[in-house]
Amino acid sequence: MMKQSSLPEAYSKAHLPSKVALAVSEKPDGSYNLITIEWFMRTSIHPPMFAISIGHSRYSYDCMQDVRYFNLVFPSEKQKELLSLAGSNSGREMDKFTAGGVKYFAGKLHKLPVLSDAVACFECEIVSQIRSGDHTIFIGEVKHSWKNEDEKLYYYQSK
Ligand SMILES: Cc1cc2nc3c(=O)[nH]c(=O)nc-3n(C[C@H](O)[C@H](O)[C@H](O)COP(=O)(O)O)c2cc1C
Repeated sequence: MMKQSSLPEAYSKAHLPSKVALAVSEKPDGSYNLITIEWFMRTSIHPPMFAISIGHSRYSYDCMQDVRYFNLVFPSEKQKELLSLAGSNSGREMDKFTAGGVKYFAGKLHKLPVLSDAVACFECEIVSQIRSGDHTIFIGEVKHSWKNEDEKLYYYQSK
């Protein structure tokens, strides 16, 4: 029977397992950051666009204000631990690429890393942003796309 509920209790019925992604951004010192995100979607076919919602407390939010690019990475089953690492530590205190032993090569657009073990990666230029409560939605136009036929997409599960 459908009953009225708190938002967290109702949402917990619906959101896992979930497709999650990683967003790569550039730190002011020129090194790179990673954030685990569940709140993203495609928003345009021509030109191709993705929107990602980033909390104002995240270091990634600061990074994306400065350097107007991000790479949206769809992780493989190999990258399960990296998703936890990137989703529970801040780039303010940690170099997540080193801590996670991330394998990557430079992309084409702004040379942000393309993660070698992911299933797909989209190099995006931020073309607009919209404040949404305590998050900001960054809208990125896809400039280059990458795919990896050897890996399987990972769906985030509850523990
Ligand atoms: C499964 C999962 C999904 C998440 N989704 C988002 C999201 O959509 N937006 C967001 O701002 N933070 C999200 N987070 C939290 C950030 O990944 C986390 O706060 C991270 O440590 C921020 O890193 P940063 O400070 O280096 O940017 C999520 C975390 C997990 C584990």
